[in-house]
Amino acid sequence: MSLAPSAQQRGIPMTAIPNDANPRDRGGPAQPLLIVEGLKKHFPIRGGLLGRAQAWVQAVDGVDFVVGKGETLGIVGESGCGKSTTARLLMHLMTPDSGDIIFDGDAVGTLRGLSVRDLRRQMQMVFQDSYSSLNPRMTIEDSIAFGLVAQGTSAKEARTRAASMLRMVGLTPDMFSQRYPHELSGGQRQRVNIARALTMSPRLLILDEAVSALDKSVEAQVLNLLQELKRKLELTYIFISHDLNVIQYISDRVLVMYLGKAVEIGPVDEIYRAPKHPYTRALLSSRPSMDPRQRMHAPPLSGDPPNPINPPSGCRFRTRCPIAEQVCSDNVPLLGSVEGGEAHPVACHAHRPGSGHSAAPTEGVVH
Ligand SMILES: Nc1ncnc2c1ncn2[C@@H]1O[C@H](COP(=O)(O)OP(=O)(O)OP(=O)(O)O)[C@@H](O)[C@H]1O
Ligand code: SF4
Ligand SMILES: [Mg+2]
Repeated sequence: MSLAPSAQQRGIPMTAIPNDANPRDRGGPAQPLLIVEGLKKHFPIRGGLLGRAQAWVQAVDGVDFVVGKGETLGIVGESGCGKSTTARLLMHLMTPDSGDIIFDGDAVGTLRGLSVRDLRRQMQMVFQDSYSSLNPRMTIEDSIAFGLVAQGTSAKEARTRAASMLRMVGLTPDMFSQRYPHELSGGQRQRVNIARALTMSPRLLILDEAVSALDKSVEAQVLNLLQELKRKLELTYIFISHDLNVIQYISDRVLVMYLGKAVEIGPVDEIYRAPKHPYTRALLSSRPSMDPRQRMHAPPLSGDPPNPINPPSGCRFRTRCPIAEQVCSDNVPLLGSVEGGEAHPVACHAHRPGSGHSAAPTEGVVH
């Protein structure tokens, strides 16, 4: 259980205020599309004859962030830090252990809020593996139309819509609608997955390593398509990638995760120009860059991340941090408030006034 007061206790409304001008945009442009607070998922490791939980993988451990309407939030972090688990929790593909997910003012999965079914109309996800995301026995047209028919749209109308979605992602229906997934290239299949995700007219698209398996030229084309669709359809994106150059290109803000925790969040230019967290610095300095102005001088990351079953006490990064001190093992550094407040919060004692870290700024000054 999170010890932080819930969103409701802190006065965030649990049902949205209607916006008459645009019924889909229920709270107006100033209201975040998504508020995530205290999101937590620990996976049991079962063993023994009775299959009881012997240990818990702390995959996502109290993550907070906000996504504004129309923005792209990039999520980065090493393999296993909890990016995909966070995405799946947002989609309710698995149930969080605790935490609040508030979509345009409506708390998800609560009696008076937004049902999971309604959430999935407004939030869709595209995965890395373009092939396994599609049914190999269904034509492209049927795959795209499937969700619409399941929601009660007539077969004829669903086919028309599938054709228009194919056109929107740059595939000619005459050439592609009757093909099967194995008859497409990886880039074409990923375009189909994007078309399928967009058939329900979602407002938020989660892209989990959606371009990572594509070669560089196809990746660039799909990234440009995503930018164009975002503008045309007024979408909001959560974009997960291990590629720091792609994240820089596509994101407005960036969330950095380390071992199940959010450690830094802020505008993309600021994070790349002046990262605050020692982990973000190390991550960025390990990025290959042809441009000498983009190279970081912090020491690159060394060693592997610790075991998420038994993470270090205090700051989880302390075992790899070049400036760790006693306070870093004694106290968990907090990220700070996610609503309003700091534009570039960081979970590091070296940046918290009065934390006891020798590099911390003097009282009242946050740098
Ligand atoms: N169903 C599960 N059961 C047990 N552990 C799991 C399960 N799913 C994920 N994990 C563990 O949770 C942690 C976070 O996994 P997750 O897939 O979210 O990482 P990720 O950041 O997406 O990594 P990658 O960049 O490799 O995709 C990992 O240690 C992983 O092994
Ligand atoms: S809290 Fe301490 S160990 Fe963690 S990143 Fe900051 S200085 Fe390093
Ligand atoms: Mg992943």
